[in-house]
Amino acid sequence: MVHNECVAPALTDLEWIHRLPKAEVHLHLEGCVDAAVVAVAAERHGATSPLPLDEGRPVLGGLAELLAYLDWSCALITEPDELATIAYESARRSSVSGTRHIDVIANPTHWPGFADRLGLMLDALDDGFRNAEADGFATATLCLSLKRQQSATEALHFVDWMIERRHRRVGALSIDGNEAAGSHNERFAEAFGRAGAAGLRRCAHAGESSGADGVREAIELLGAERIDHGIRALEDPAVVAELVRRSIPLDICPSSNVILGVVPSLAEHPVVPLAAAGVAFSLNTDDPLLYGIDLAGEYARSAAAFGWDRPMLARIARTSIDSSFADDDRRHELHGELEDFLATNA
Ligand code: ADE
Ligand code: ZN
Repeated sequence: MVHNECVAPALTDLEWIHRLPKAEVHLHLEGCVDAAVVAVAAERHGATSPLPLDEGRPVLGGLAELLAYLDWSCALITEPDELATIAYESARRSSVSGTRHIDVIANPTHWPGFADRLGLMLDALDDGFRNAEADGFATATLCLSLKRQQSATEALHFVDWMIERRHRRVGALSIDGNEAAGSHNERFAEAFGRAGAAGLRRCAHAGESSGADGVREAIELLGAERIDHGIRALEDPAVVAELVRRSIPLDICPSSNVILGVVPSLAEHPVVPLAAAGVAFSLNTDDPLLYGIDLAGEYARSAAAFGWDRPMLARIARTSIDSSFADDDRRHELHGELEDFLATNA
């Protein structure tokens, strides 16, 4: 069983890393629910966790268990106020790591309490993010996500609703979940095509529970502009070359990959050969409150494990901003903040 203990964060440069302006582009709303909030909601519903808990966090054996846990924990949340608080807190907590913008992936299939109230769900999240921004915390863009097991009809229905509703907080269509039983990219191609034609940005989980083919299909069939994880692209040099040729960045989540058993250890993480091949990437937490991690810790752990210096971390922060689905003005502002910081703190 994989335990939620990662390598202890290196303390070297942690203070500098905290002040380094950066974006996080791979952050699941479902992995931002505080253990105490889940515990209170479980008590209210008389529900018991399907997994053993360690300090309130589930002890995870892999991706399938993680997803089953999210189905359970998010179903306990039924009040718009709770969602607004989860959104506010995710932006506030991210700011502690020096994160100035977050792209938050939200998958409605995990939230049955809002199945018939998706508009209300978005408004509640928007309230939380707006209040966080007003308080000086990170700005936020929502990436609404399909689940790999949904049908083509469900996907089209969802995307048509997104296009018709055009919620101002929503910037992108995403797809996540488990690809172990097949990625089914052809099934989702039309939905992603419609989203792209309507001006929505597109990202896709691939190369985590799928191999290099999953990454290639996410690019070719879904039009993904950014690959969530993507690390198994390394299994096919042609796919790595395609990522480089098209300048498609990966959003890499090192601790998540170790905790879920996608890679055996941080030392053996494919980010090193991917970086050497010229693939652009950002660092991310994926599901920080489930793993007990934060983004500054991911930068510090990776720097220690891979021997990365400040210029390398600055380059990753730049890519994180380039990769984000914040609008052009906001991205320009974020680049300005980063370069101002580096001018005096290189
Ligand atoms: N949903 C939350 N975390 C995920 C992950 N690591 N992969 C796929 N779907 C997810
Ligand atoms: Zn993810």
